[in-house]
Amino acid sequence: MSQLTITVNGIKVCGNRHEPLLTQLEKAGIKPEYQCRNGMCGACRCKLVSGTVTQSDTLAFVGPNEVLSCSSIPQQNIEISFDYQLNTQQPTKTKIAL
Ligand code: FES
Repeated sequence: MSQLTITVNGIKVCGNRHEPLLTQLEKAGIKPEYQCRNGMCGACRCKLVSGTVTQSDTLAFVGPNEVLSCSSIPQQNIEISFDYQLNTQQPTKTKIAL
């Protein structure tokens, strides 16, 4: 089964193992900050609280326990956090509030 759960700033969304985190969050109606979408700028950086991701090669600085949501694909249920309040829209997928 390729479905998994992405918890972002306390919000749970259904995810998968083949799309970048940023894309999956946007499809769920969550709008993190981004600029380049290819690992160059670092605008999409977030903290990886738990779980693992596959991070493609990038040029942007990434600190310990941080990932670039535009260039990371979750491999299991994960929890991430952005250090700002996320802009959310009406979800297009199931979104489960805690
Ligand atoms: S949006 Fe630029 S590194 Fe992710």
